[in-house]
Amino acid sequence: MAGPRLWFPLLLAAAFATWATALWPWPQYIQTSHRYYNLSPYKFQFRYHSRSAAQPGCSVLDEAFLRYRKVLFGSGPWPSPNLSEKQEKIKKNKLVVSVSTAGCTDFPTLESLENYTLTINDKRILLVAHSVWGALRGLETFSQVVWRSSDGAFFVNKTKIEDFPRFPHRGLLLDTSRHYLPLFSILDTLDVMAYNKFNVFHWHIVDDSSFPYESTTFPELTRKGAYNPVTHIYTTQDVKEVIEYARLRGIRVLVEFDTPGHTLSWGPGIPGLLTPCYSESRPSGTFGPVNPSLNNTYEFMSTLFLEISSVFPDFYLHLGGDEVDFTCWRSNPDIQAFMKKKGFGDDFKQLESFYIQTLLDIVSAYGKGYVVWQEVFDNKVKIRPDTIIQVWQEELPVNYMKELDLITKAGFRALLSAPWYLNRITYGPDWKDFYKVEPLDFKGTPEQKALVIGGEACMWGEYVDSTNLVPRLWPRAGAVSERLWSKSSMTDVKFAFQRLSHFRCELLRRGVQAQPLNIGYCEQEFE
Ligand SMILES: *[C@@H]1O[C@H](CO)[C@@H](O)[C@H](O)[C@H]1NC(C)=O
Ligand SMILES: *[C@@H]1O[C@H](CO)[C@@H](O)[C@H](O)[C@H]1NC(C)=O
Ligand SMILES: *[C@@H]1O[C@H](CO)[C@@H](O)[C@H](O)[C@H]1NC(C)=O
Ligand SMILES: *[C@@H]1O[C@H](CO)[C@@H](O)[C@H](O)[C@H]1NC(C)=O
Repeated sequence: MAGPRLWFPLLLAAAFATWATALWPWPQYIQTSHRYYNLSPYKFQFRYHSRSAAQPGCSVLDEAFLRYRKVLFGSGPWPSPNLSEKQEKIKKNKLVVSVSTAGCTDFPTLESLENYTLTINDKRILLVAHSVWGALRGLETFSQVVWRSSDGAFFVNKTKIEDFPRFPHRGLLLDTSRHYLPLFSILDTLDVMAYNKFNVFHWHIVDDSSFPYESTTFPELTRKGAYNPVTHIYTTQDVKEVIEYARLRGIRVLVEFDTPGHTLSWGPGIPGLLTPCYSESRPSGTFGPVNPSLNNTYEFMSTLFLEISSVFPDFYLHLGGDEVDFTCWRSNPDIQAFMKKKGFGDDFKQLESFYIQTLLDIVSAYGKGYVVWQEVFDNKVKIRPDTIIQVWQEELPVNYMKELDLITKAGFRALLSAPWYLNRITYGPDWKDFYKVEPLDFKGTPEQKALVIGGEACMWGEYVDSTNLVPRLWPRAGAVSERLWSKSSMTDVKFAFQRLSHFRCELLRRGVQAQPLNIGYCEQEFE
């Protein structure tokens, strides 16, 4: 795509110190000029190119036009700038969008093309993309290159941008079990994800602490497993709203129902599902992971996952599989008998394997693909070759870079999360550590590296709810969004700091309570 053209070399990046706007994440190729054009908020319009495959009525773009008009200009009245005659002649009143495939009612997928070209010159402002998802990314970029003069007029410089993501899976995980997140928190997060060009919302929807997902086939799960079965749940309608809100922003919803561990909240609603733990040959009254020795368990999982597969349209489901504690299984005589019958000896990894393989067969029969946490690979569960493995452990059993090497050597696709746990906070600019991670920095063949499809920033919820979610996420998650979108050569932390600081101010302007990166101030005043 680059070709022998005169793109701004990255070495000149420092020259952008005076960039009045917040370009984040940095595009693949950009060429700008000091020539600039005025935009009138009164007249400015988004239009479909006559030859675009998508035309008015395309929900994804129609709604994006409304959103970006608001992001760009807010609400009037606006001052009228005093332009020279020359400036008047080159005023810009429209941005024209052209996409080559329609797909306005589709869902974004792992395979979606998000590339776009944005051309701003004397003749026109033109946004060309393969898909509506690429057009969304281009609209975001456009909103970041428009700047305001001190008297409040809007301008955009002559610019040419050709852009595409480095990795197709750029995710953010929210945990709605340790703390319930109200619907508005999730929707607001999706907005800011789109500003950062994130494209996967990994919804860790249930866990030990609570079961807020309201199942239509098993309503007892929330009735007995949610913190509050009326106020702290996600109804079918809520889930639909999240999925559609995300779709309109080019974001996939990857839902996670983690089993066989992390399921304590499932127990009260489904008696017999969890393993009773024993102490001194008697049930102790406590429960462990899902009971893998009962046929009922698999019948239940079949029915539940049938529902989940139809509620969540994404091809992939996240099946968890992390941190299975064997102590309770080991204590239970029925499990011991089952182990004997199956010839597993004393190897509980084989029992875990048996459970997960049966579950994977169930889910693949519904036509779904799946993502699992790294333990499923580490414990040598037999998994389908198209399984995606998510790496979350930093050092054990091996360093995460080594783990990426092992997973891709075995031919599986991988996602990286280990260095990007945003819930962990330390004093100072920790975003730099997130930023400096290079996901392909492991020894391995180019074929192996091609199997790393991206990564996810994770915000686990033990110490996070809607009161502190936003400032803890933003702008820190931005470090991950740029790492996964921009070229690997984007390693200049100073340049990143300048732009991320501007971007943080831009987030404040857009109403996002993003925390400061360091000492300093934002040009605009905020209430
Ligand atoms: C945009 O144009 C203005 C005015 O000529 C100039 O000061 C600024 O540096 C330009 N910005 C970029 C990114 O080229
Ligand atoms: C535009 O020019 C008029 C007349 O010269 C002046 O009164 C007004 O303050 C100027 N407006 C701006 C925004 O500079
Ligand atoms: C996007 O990428 C596809 C596939 O590589 C290519 O055919 C298309 O021309 C690109 N479109 C733009 C606008 O860059
Ligand atoms: C569970 O199902 C298997 C296979 O269908 C069957 O062989 C076994 O007898 C069943 N076990 C129980 C306890 O029903």
